[in-house]
Amino acid sequence: MIFEQIATGGCQSYLVGCPDGCVAALIDPEIRQIDRYLGALQRDGLRLRYVIDTHTHADHFSAAHEIAKRLGVAVVTHRDSPAPYAELRLQDGDMLVIGNIKLHAIHTPGHTRDSMCLLTSDRLFTGDTLLIGATGRTDLPTGDPDALYESLFNGILKLDPALKIFPAHDYKQRSSSTIADELANNPRLQKRDRVEFVEMMRHLNLTAPTHLTEALRTNMTGGKTVAQLLAEAGAKTPFMSLAELSARVARSRDIVVLDVRERDAYAAGHVPGARHLPRGQLELRVNDELPDPTARIVTVCEFGKISTLAAATLRDLGFLRAAALDGGMKGWREGGLPVETT
Ligand SMILES: [Fe+2]
Repeated sequence: MIFEQIATGGCQSYLVGCPDGCVAALIDPEIRQIDRYLGALQRDGLRLRYVIDTHTHADHFSAAHEIAKRLGVAVVTHRDSPAPYAELRLQDGDMLVIGNIKLHAIHTPGHTRDSMCLLTSDRLFTGDTLLIGATGRTDLPTGDPDALYESLFNGILKLDPALKIFPAHDYKQRSSSTIADELANNPRLQKRDRVEFVEMMRHLNLTAPTHLTEALRTNMTGGKTVAQLLAEAGAKTPFMSLAELSARVARSRDIVVLDVRERDAYAAGHVPGARHLPRGQLELRVNDELPDPTARIVTVCEFGKISTLAAATLRDLGFLRAAALDGGMKGWREGGLPVETT
C-alpha cells in the first residue's frame, strides 16, 4: 500500500494508494494543498478514484469539490452530508474498493452528524471522531456529545486495540496513535460513564474556530472562499506597483486611475487625478464613464483586493489594459506619496 500523510497546519490528509491497481483515494484534502496531492498522485503513478471527506469540516476548507471537478472523480461523504456535490454517499457498513485496498465506512456521529471513520486492515482514519489525546468537539452545528459517546465507547474503541489511528487533525506534529494508547492515555476517554462524558463535552468552553462561517458555507455548498475568488481574479489581472504608478501619474495623464472605494474614502484622500467609480456601481456606469476600451486603467482600493476584482471585471468587459494597484491606498499613504482630497 502506498500511504502518505500530508499535514497542513493542524489538518491531516491521507493519500492511500494501491500500486498494483495504480489507483488511490484521498482522505480529507485541504484547499491549499491541491497541487501537492496532484503531484503525489503523479509521482506514484496513481489515478485518483475517490476523494473523501470524513465529515463536514467547520474549521478548514475542503479541497474535495475542487479536486473532484478537476479530475472527474466522485466526492465521497457519509449519507447525512449536506454537500450537494457529494456523488457517493456512504452508509455504515459500505465499503470502497481501491485496487487491493478495502476501506470500510463506520458511521460515527457525534462531532458532526455526518462523521464517519474509515477502516483498512491495519489502520483507522478517524476524522474528528477520535484525535490523538482528544476527541472532536461536539458544540458546533450537528454536534451531539451523546452520539459521540456511543460512536466511541460502543463503536470504534471496541475495535482491535493494536489498530493505528490517523485523525483529521493534530496540532502537535504527531502522526498516529493506536486504539490502545488512546484508551490508556487520552484524557477525554477517561470519563467512561455516559453521563459524565456528556457533561464533560458540554463544558469544554472552546473558542469558535476561525473561518467557521466561511468553512461551513463553502464545505456545505461547494462554493468558493473569498481567497479563492481573489486568487482567480488575480490570476487574470496584472498589477502595478506603487512606485510605477507614482512615476506615471507624475509624468503624464495617459493613464486612468480609477478609485473604486466608497465616496467618503475617496474624498478623504486619493491618488492625484484619480477618478471615482465605486466597485458597486462599476457595471452600472462603465459605459458612461469609460467609453474607450483601449484606455490604460489602474484600479485602486484601500488594500488592493477589491481593486483586483474590479480590474478582473474590467478585463472581462474588454478593457484589456486594466490592472490593479498593488498595495492599494494604504500602501500609497504609507509610502508618503502625494494624496489629493476633494
Ligand atoms: Fe471537524
